[in-house]
Amino acid sequence: MIPLPRPAVYVTRRLPAAAMRLLEETCQVSLWDELERPVPRAELLRGVADAEGLLSLLTDRVDAEVLAAAPRLRVVANMAVGYDNIDVAACTARGVLVTNTPDVLTETTADLAWALMLAAARRIVEGQRMIETGAWGPWHPLQMVGVDVYGATLGVVGAGRIGGAVLRRGGGFAMRLLYHNRHPAPELEAATGAVYRPFDDLLRESDFIVVSAPLTPETRGMFGAREFSLMRETAIFVNVARGPLVREEDLAAALRAGRPRAAGLDVFTREPIGPDHPLLSLPNCVCVPHIGSATLATRTRMATLAAENLVAALTGRPLLTPVNLTELVALELAAPSWGRGATDR
Ligand code: GLV
Repeated sequence: MIPLPRPAVYVTRRLPAAAMRLLEETCQVSLWDELERPVPRAELLRGVADAEGLLSLLTDRVDAEVLAAAPRLRVVANMAVGYDNIDVAACTARGVLVTNTPDVLTETTADLAWALMLAAARRIVEGQRMIETGAWGPWHPLQMVGVDVYGATLGVVGAGRIGGAVLRRGGGFAMRLLYHNRHPAPELEAATGAVYRPFDDLLRESDFIVVSAPLTPETRGMFGAREFSLMRETAIFVNVARGPLVREEDLAAALRAGRPRAAGLDVFTREPIGPDHPLLSLPNCVCVPHIGSATLATRTRMATLAAENLVAALTGRPLLTPVNLTELVALELAAPSWGRGATDR
């Protein structure tokens, strides 16, 4: 029997071995074979020329230009839960499936949100710097005082899977739990005891404000001077979502003025940031390099899930975690592709 040709896929970074094996069993794999350096744009445009599948990372912009360079493309499997790096509407219009990697990173990312909450509240990084610079003087009653986490009020903006897991952990710290979403979430309330608040009320009432909302045109820049001015002087602000939700100059000014008291940031407007970034110079700002999902187990699960989605899409099996399947089905029902010319795709 003549074997069927394997679908060609382009993978934009060297992935953990388990994920690479999965792809290689079914597909003809082309790879940007580097671990640390993102694929250069020209290389990506060349790489997708024959590809039916693209496995992308959040560092790759998948837009109309990429789609135009990839006439055979059927699926983009993003190795991230967020997919603001992908023009999903353009993919849908072209009949290209998009998948992401939710669930597998939920608990790991919620852990990191808590690491930032605790580090900012208890001045962990500042404390280490104090020792390293020889500034640790004799114990005194107000040395390195921070704020309590136990028993405080935690407000989560964007209480989806990750935000829900952040709230759940709050129960162990006897916290009062608030959340703000576009719509109230009765299941989350039943599971965590969290209470819905309008956005401004949540900002006014929370001791800890954790952002875990997706980046969309509506959420871009949603935290600026006005929002910081509503927060308590003692508030701690944490962002584990995407940098552009926050106006960084406004946050820097607010932290300098002492409202909110401190911040913990995993994400930035333009990543990576350098050592000269203004937020890094502030002692009350804890910054880490987009490591929300960065445990070996979770990154391996994310890569494997992305590979499984890619293979499923190219072999006609059900997708595990689709992003635009509903929209694609609706489009297909409205105008079946078998009635359209190939050029309409
Ligand atoms: C990481 O930021 C992700 O979206 O998975």
